[in-house]
Formats: sequence, structure tokens, C-alpha cells
Amino acid sequence: MKKIITKNAEETKKLGMGIADKFQGGEIICLEGDLGAGKTTFSQGLLQGLGAEGPYTSPTFVVMKEYKTKSRNIYHIDAYRINKEDVLELGWEELVADKSNVIILEWPEKIKKIIPENSLWIKFRHLDKNKREIIYRPFVNKISKKI
Ligand SMILES: Nc1ncnc2c1ncn2[C@@H]1O[C@H](COP(=O)(O)OP(=O)(O)O)[C@@H](O)[C@H]1O
Ligand SMILES: [Mg+2]
Repeated sequence: MKKIITKNAEETKKLGMGIADKFQGGEIICLEGDLGAGKTTFSQGLLQGLGAEGPYTSPTFVVMKEYKTKSRNIYHIDAYRINKEDVLELGWEELVADKSNVIILEWPEKIKKIIPENSLWIKFRHLDKNKREIIYRPFVNKISKKI
């Protein structure tokens, strides 16, 4: 397990940006942690690193935001206000089946039953006002090979 402590939002964003080049498509990245733990901040860095065009607003209220880049579609989903059935209604199965897609998911624990096993889980923990602990399994290229 890799454990990183970031000292401000910018560092968390950079961490997201820094793992983007390992993505090949087909990744489902599950961001676990309480409100304000930094999931959306991390997502913003990751989206930028993946070449998505901003603004990278939080999907908490719209549930899902789609970003199209030349090589892939990226879906940023927040399951905070919804349940498993709602996510299935969004076309979850189709999104997962298309291995060119990247899915970034906040509140994955709410829909755990429908998340494929080889997804990448990252845990965020609020330490103090500007400090966050971020824990994940290191991975290289295709996540499925490494977990
Ligand atoms: N080290 C840090 N990492 C991430 N966010 C931080 C950090 N320090 C302070 N913050 C602030 O905490 C808030 C995190 O919010 P957000 O990323 O929306 O959390 P979540 O999506 O988990 O609810 C932001 O206002 C951000 O500026
Ligand atoms: Mg959020």
C-alpha cells in the first residue's frame, strides 16, 4: 500500500495528475472518503492529466459528468445522493463494458455490489484543515495486472 500525506489541495490535485499517464482505458477508479476529504480535488487533477477539458465541476448535484477527449470518454460519477439502481439506470453496465472509458467514482461504497473486482480503490482521510491522507495500492499500466 502506498500512503501519501498531502499538505494542501494543490498537492492532492498533482497526485491525481501524476497517475494519469498510467491509464490506458478501462480503469474504474473508486474514491472513498468523507465529505471534504479531497475526492473531487483529486478527480480534478486526474481529469486534467487525462486531457479532459475543464471546468471540472463536482458531479455531486448532476450525478454524472462526461468528458470527451481524443482517445477516450471519461465519466466522473458521484453516488452520494443516489443508489445502485440509479447508477444502473445511468447505463453503468455499458460504461463499464466499453474498455476505452475511464470511470472516476466518488462514494463507491454506496454501490459496491456493482463495481468490478479489479477496480482501483483510493482512500482519502481528513487529518486536519489542510492535511489529507491518501492510501492506495501502487499500480503500473493496466490496473488489472497489478491488483
Ligand atoms: N490536502 C488537501 N487535499 C485536498 N483538498 C484539500 C486539502 N486541504 C484542503 N483542502 C480543501 O478541502 C476541500 C476538499 O473538497 P472536495 O475535494 O470537494 O472533497 P470531497 O469530494 O471528498 O467531498 C476543498 O475545499 C479543498 O480546497
Ligand atoms: Mg466530491
